[in-house]
Amino acid sequence: MESLIKQWDGESVIIRYDRVADAWIFIAIHSTALGPSAGGTRMKPYPHLREALEDALRLSGGMTLKWAAAGNNYGGGKGVIAVPDSLDSQGRSDLLRRYGTFVHQYNGIFFTGPDYGTSSEDMDIIAETGDPYIFGRTKAAGGSGNPGPYTALGVLTSIQVVAEQVFGTSNLEGKKVLVQGVGSVGRGLTTLLRETGAEILISDVDPSLTQYLSDEFGLESIPSDEAYDRPCDIFAPCAVGAILNKETIPRLRCRAVAGAANNQLGTPGDADLLRERDILYAPDFIANCGGAMAIIGMEVQGWSHKEAEEKLVHAIKSNLSQVFQMTKADGCSTDEAGKRIAERRLSGA
Ligand code: PHE
Repeated sequence: MESLIKQWDGESVIIRYDRVADAWIFIAIHSTALGPSAGGTRMKPYPHLREALEDALRLSGGMTLKWAAAGNNYGGGKGVIAVPDSLDSQGRSDLLRRYGTFVHQYNGIFFTGPDYGTSSEDMDIIAETGDPYIFGRTKAAGGSGNPGPYTALGVLTSIQVVAEQVFGTSNLEGKKVLVQGVGSVGRGLTTLLRETGAEILISDVDPSLTQYLSDEFGLESIPSDEAYDRPCDIFAPCAVGAILNKETIPRLRCRAVAGAANNQLGTPGDADLLRERDILYAPDFIANCGGAMAIIGMEVQGWSHKEAEEKLVHAIKSNLSQVFQMTKADGCSTDEAGKRIAERRLSGA
């Protein structure tokens, strides 16, 4: 674990062991260059504690790029709560309240919201003790609710922009889009894609999630280990990170990748592998900024729901078109181009 922190390029990590729940909490503060750190809280069991720390470090770095590229005055942060498998619902709620107290103690150097394994309802519980540092509470509790649909809208926009680059049209009618992971965001994405006339393929490690969508809407479901091999026009990763790597990239049979998962690349060099295979990659931290951008816009800047939608669509279109121009002009990968856009803002801070 020491070497993970040594190799990391962020600012600080806060660690707490919660004795009551036998849970470990990591809050990684990657950057405060543009403002206080902010990022979701991920909660799940981890086979090894090292992986929980690694998630916090990597994901907080992704948040720095996301906020900078989206034009928000926040820095990258991420909370990870590594819980035991045995945690029951009462124990979980109590842990969330203690987590809120913990976040509150840091007086706004870290703001948080929902992420994998936490919901808006969980944010309501965390906010009982963590207010005013908690975003994405339910509407009933005065928040702006689940960011998932906004993230999904941003991913749909990204898919349309890459389609335009690759096929000369953003019209998705008849285009095969493979959605990997149909949790909150992936499922919302399939809803939006159905309205575009795209042919949707779905895949998830949890068969109960794909079963529902297949039964209800007739979507073709693909076994999760075959998702990379299946020919499609656009591959949309909406599950875990690091799925674009030297094992999977040679297997891909798509023209473009645009999805919601955080940290999709195994290593930065994998963006070059995609480019060599002529697969256009929408940098994850640009494609998936919709939820975070909308929640901050509505809760801090007073945007309406409609304004949030318009602004996130505009920001993503504008950032992606800059990215694709930069890659054409100097042959860098799209990931590198996206990072330059973010770093331009960070260095001007
Ligand atoms: N889970 C969000 C993301 O990865 C994080 C977030 C949501 C941050 C809502 C703030 C508010 O983008």
